[in-house]
Amino acid sequence: MWPYPKVLAHRGGGKLAPENTIAALKCGLAHGFRAVEFDVMLARDGVPVVMHDPYLGRTVAGSGNVFDYDAAELARMDAGGWFDKQFQGEPVPLFADFAAFCKASGIWMNIEIKPAPGFEAQTGAVVAEAARAMFEGEPGQAPLLSSFSETALAAARDAAPEVARALLLDVVPRDWLHRARALGAVAIHTNHKHLTQGVAREIRLSGFGLFCYTVNNPIRARELLMWGVDGFCTDRIDLIGPDFS
Ligand code: G3P
Ligand code: MG
Repeated sequence: MWPYPKVLAHRGGGKLAPENTIAALKCGLAHGFRAVEFDVMLARDGVPVVMHDPYLGRTVAGSGNVFDYDAAELARMDAGGWFDKQFQGEPVPLFADFAAFCKASGIWMNIEIKPAPGFEAQTGAVVAEAARAMFEGEPGQAPLLSSFSETALAAARDAAPEVARALLLDVVPRDWLHRARALGAVAIHTNHKHLTQGVAREIRLSGFGLFCYTVNNPIRARELLMWGVDGFCTDRIDLIGPDFS
């Protein structure tokens, strides 16, 4: 039902390093994490990059949208200086480089497809195809794709059905089962703040994996695990270790 790690470092290294960078992965590794969640969207030239916001300004100095720039231009931008001076010059990673680092380091990936508005299907297909190509013949390490965009997940399913998918839902709606089945999803990923024990039970009894974001309080994390939640991501990799139980 959930053949994946239990605790994932959110956006690479949680709150201890600039999100969605290779430096974040290194920070996660230093804390013993070999499982991460991160966000992927397309640059102007259709090349996937690791990025949360569809615009510059918060984590990357500059202005405009991610899709206003080619990937090579984004890869020259500073995605670390906003966090701390010591990370200045840390680039926006190409998805290919980021995923290759994970694979080489034995870091399991939950790849969140985070399409810029209007690019849902294209992003889903590109990311799924890239993931398939990377793990062909190595199903043991295969990543799990997830997205709030059902259009992106449907495109991922059509492009590379063998790459597992999870439906991301802020609040689990009444028709979650219908939606998850239509997408061929194996798991539900949801905001722990809105999850109830009853809904958790319903999801598990229906045979789906259940994953929560973003759990930063160890007491709450323990409660969720008692409810049968299979896994979660955390920003507090300093408080909640990879073997947390
Ligand atoms: O994938 C879980 C979580 O990352 C979803 O929210 O905004 O942090 O990408 P966000
Ligand atoms: Mg995310």
